[in-house]
This record gives sequence, C-alpha cells and structure tokens, in this order.
Amino acid sequence: MDSRRNFVKKGVLLGSVLSLSPDMAFGSNFLNFSEKINIGIIGLGDQGLSMLSLLLNRKDVNVVALCDLNVARVELGVETLKNSGKKAALTFSGDKQSYLDLLSLKEVDAVIIATPHQTRIGIAIDAFSAGKFVGMEVPAATSVEECFDLIKAHEQNGSQMMIMDDLMFRRDMMAAMNMLKENVFGDVFHFKCSYQRNQNIESCDQHNLNNWVTNRHSKNADVYPSSGIAAMAAFSEMNRGNRFETLSTQVSKSAFLNQINKDYELHLNAESSGDVLTTVIKTANDQSIVIAYEGNNCSAQSIGIKIQGSLGTWDRQNQSIRFESDAEIRKWESATAYLEKYDHENWKVFGQKDMVESHFMKHLTLDAFIQSAKGKIKPVLDVYDAATLGVIAPLSDLSVANDGAVQIFPDFTSGAWANANGTKENLRLQTV
Ligand SMILES: NC(=O)c1ccc[n+]([C@@H]2O[C@H](COP(=O)([O-])OP(=O)(O)OC[C@H]3O[C@@H](n4cnc5c(N)ncnc54)[C@H](O)[C@@H]3O)[C@@H](O)[C@H]2O)c1
Repeated sequence: MDSRRNFVKKGVLLGSVLSLSPDMAFGSNFLNFSEKINIGIIGLGDQGLSMLSLLLNRKDVNVVALCDLNVARVELGVETLKNSGKKAALTFSGDKQSYLDLLSLKEVDAVIIATPHQTRIGIAIDAFSAGKFVGMEVPAATSVEECFDLIKAHEQNGSQMMIMDDLMFRRDMMAAMNMLKENVFGDVFHFKCSYQRNQNIESCDQHNLNNWVTNRHSKNADVYPSSGIAAMAAFSEMNRGNRFETLSTQVSKSAFLNQINKDYELHLNAESSGDVLTTVIKTANDQSIVIAYEGNNCSAQSIGIKIQGSLGTWDRQNQSIRFESDAEIRKWESATAYLEKYDHENWKVFGQKDMVESHFMKHLTLDAFIQSAKGKIKPVLDVYDAATLGVIAPLSDLSVANDGAVQIFPDFTSGAWANANGTKENLRLQTV
C-alpha cells in the first residue's frame, strides 16, 4: 500500500520541498511597514521591557506612551527609547490607576498589558472602553467572573484582544502546525503540553522567589496553564469548529516542597499546592488534551509537547517522531528532518541569524499583534480564546477542591464556535 503516510516519509528522505501556502495567522506580512501604528505599554517588568526593545526595531511602530506603577521601571523604558534614537514617549507612573491617563490619549491605537496577572483584567476592560486594541499577557484572567466580564466589555465596545502567547510562534511549533495542516498525523486524538520548571532555589533571586511563591505556588490548581495551551488551542482549532468542553484536575502530594522547606529552612505551605497537577481537557471533537503543571518540582525545564494522531506521533520532549507505518515497532526516529521539511516560511525566509530563537518568536508574536491592530481584524487567538484559556485555572481550582470532579467550560462564544470560520484553513488565514 503506497499510502499517503508513506509518501510523507519518502518526501522527507528525498529532501523534496513541499510548497506550503503562506500562513497569514502567523504574521507572514511582517515586512509591510507602510502604515504606522502608535502603541502604549502598561507594565514594564521583564516582559514589557523586552517587548519594548523589539518594538523599537520596527519602522512601522511608534511607542508613544509608557506606564508602570514603579517609576524606576518607567525610567528604564525611557532609557531604552533614548538609546534607540526614537522619539521620547509620554510617561505615567506612581499610581495603580495611572494607566487610565495613558488610555485617555487619543493618539494611542493599541496597548500591550504586561502587568501581573491579578491586575490585567481591569486594565483590559478599561482599554476596551477607551477603544484600544489590546495585546494581553497570559493568562488573561484569574476567575470565571473575570472571563465573562471580559467578553461583556468586548461585546459592548467592539475592541479586540490578542493573547501575546509566543510559544505557538516557536520554530518547531510552527512546523508542527504545518504538519497538522498537511494531515501528517492523520486524525488527531490527543495533545499534551506541560509547564516544567526546575525551581532551583539556590539560583533563584528574591524577585523570582517572591513571584513563584505568590503567583505560582499560591493555590492547589493549575495556576499557569499558559505555557503550551495556547498552541494546543490553535492546534485543536478551539472555538473554530471545536471547543473545550470539560476538564478535570488531579493533584499529587507535595514531596518536593516538603524537601526544600527542610533543606532551605523555608516555610512554603506544602498543603496549598501539590508537586504535579495534571489537567485533562475533553474537546467537542473527542480529543483529549493533557496539561501537566510541574512548576513546583525539580523537573528540567521543558514544554513537553506531544501530538498523537491515527498516522503518527510527535513527541517534542524526546525530539522524536514515529509513524504508524514504521517497520520497527519499538523505535522512534529523530524529528529533525520533519521539522526542517515543514519549517514555516516566516522562519525560513525571515528568521534572522543574529536574533536568538526566543527573541524571534516574540518578534513574530508582536508582528501578528501589530498586523491585527493595524487592520482592526480578528487576531490569531482573540478575546473569546483569552476567556476560554483564562478560565482553565479557576476551573482547575474548582476541580481540585472537589476531588478531581469534572468541570464544564462556559461557551463564551454562545454557540458561534461551531461555525466560526469552521475549517482548518480559516483558522490560519483569518488574520494579519
Ligand atoms: N508570554 C510569556 O512568555 C510570558 C513569560 C513570562 C511571564 N509572562 C506573563 O507576563 C506577566 C508579566 O511578567 P513580568 O515577568 O514582566 O512581571 P514583572 O513582575 O517583572 O513586571 C510587572 C510590572 O507591572 C507593573 N505593574 C503592576 N501593577 C501595575 C499597574 N496597576 N499599572 C502599571 N504597572 C503595574 C509592576 O511594577 C512591574 O514592573 C506575568 O504576570 C506573566 O503572566 C508571560
């Protein structure tokens, strides 16, 4: 049987170049600099400042306003702008509400919100009221109510939001997206992603330790499903003919936390968070998605992505791929040739040699945001997706509190998901 799957393999072995249509959702237009856009940044921590630096490389962006609660962070932003030779921005600081003055500026077309996650939703709702296009750090919300508030503000004001998740713009993730598009894995039934981060206390500075203790370790829930799940949402075409229906979270004991409490004389409440939290999502298309939150133990850092279909499996953790047709049942093969074959045009053509991968994927994220904001069009992951992904943490919290009980995802799209640009192609062609 010279099946399509064998064809896929031969293609790689012969090194043939498959012609892939440009993937607009992932910013293939990013050299279109003719139209300018004015951007304001709210929150100039590590994320805000790194986005500022990348924005300053673009000819089509004026960063016109900067805001942070902490005046020292604003000064760092001002310095960064000055060093780039660009025009100075208006600055706002000193008060939790200072961002309102930034939002009142007519000349600001779009804002990036990179404040801590507990603060973002109120700022986003105010930005919608002010008619701004919003780039939102992940996760977008911390409670079910906040997710509904976000949708309500969008539907009242019409402003849009893009989730600034850069993982799905990674080179291998974009290649995987091309593989899904070319049906390389067949009928996909399972995805996996994880947040694996070694909490190495000795190399943890006080800022990071505080962040971890207050944000990540504060609840017995998957408080940070963001790493990977946005890509899984795009892969599974969430809210575009598919939908997240239910989830359930199980939690392990806290052996690692107890150990570091002992070793470092810390007083982390090991009762409040297990070492591994495993959430299983079931989708309307009968796929399962596992999100493993391993932010509380000593795993090596990884995103642990897996895609499994009727024809094949990609396991990013061990950099391997395997097809159902492979003769050697127990053997994986290296995924490198496949990732090269399906490399996305943006990386092939524009991937700058002098920019490290993590910067270039952020650059692509910003490009998708800018193109959507300029055209006032639906971004690759929009406000309904922000709510659907934002609700995972509070639902996981409820599930753990009820011994793993299944929780139902609200349908923030009010049924529109079923016909929303229903095909795979539309997911990838609808934006920028
Ligand atoms: N996309 C990614 O890959 C990625 C990676 C890491 C973190 N994040 C997300 O980005 C967020 C920001 O991360 P970070 O590392 O930059 O955090 P950070 O704590 O270093 O920075 C947050 C900044 O927001 C400021 N701030 C707080 N409240 C404010 C307000 N009301 N108005 C104006 N400024 C305010 C703080 O002073 C601080 O400078 C995190 O909450 C996280 O969820 C995303």
